Amino acid sequence: MKDFPMVFDLLNPEIIPSHVDNHIIRKLSSLRGQFYDNKAFEDMLAIEDTVIYEVYEIKRPEVAGEMLMGISIVHPGKVGQEFFMTKGHYHTILETAEVYYCMRGEGFMVMENPEGEFSIECLSPGRVLYVPPRWAHRSICTSRQDDLITFFVYPADAGHDYGTIEDRGFHKMVIEKQNSIEFIDNPKWNK
Ligand SMILES: [Fe+2]
Repeated sequence: MKDFPMVFDLLNPEIIPSHVDNHIIRKLSSLRGQFYDNKAFEDMLAIEDTVIYEVYEIKRPEVAGEMLMGISIVHPGKVGQEFFMTKGHYHTILETAEVYYCMRGEGFMVMENPEGEFSIECLSPGRVLYVPPRWAHRSICTSRQDDLITFFVYPADAGHDYGTIEDRGFHKMVIEKQNSIEFIDNPKWNK
């Protein structure tokens, strides 16, 4: 890996960066316990281990001072009433932020911090979201037919803590009820 300025193209409608080092595919089975409706989850998994989201990463050394970039693609769909979403995570180094730029699709970023505050921001093409240090984050695709596609950049030494979210989820869930999108309290959430 060269320490020399680098460029890559990120063009609609292609979206996949012209330079990519790693392609992560997260299937339904990797999100066991994350969706509220366990029966709907198991019924769906029995038919197919559907791809829920994908990440294209551009690698850099995971050390302070470097930045990591990539593209996140959350596919449309639901488990029960709950829209497809990413696993969601805190950064292992809690005091690290992240920037998301929404390129395509529609959805939300659900966020919360250890102090008990929470926030939900809408993602639509052209919107930039700044996730401050200490805030866990999960992207959710609410379109019925289009992927939610975001470009992200964050400090390369941040790391990922998935366990805290796996244990209790986020305070808020995004569901579809009678053809409208609703934010509801997650019954599994506890402090
Ligand atoms: Fe992150």
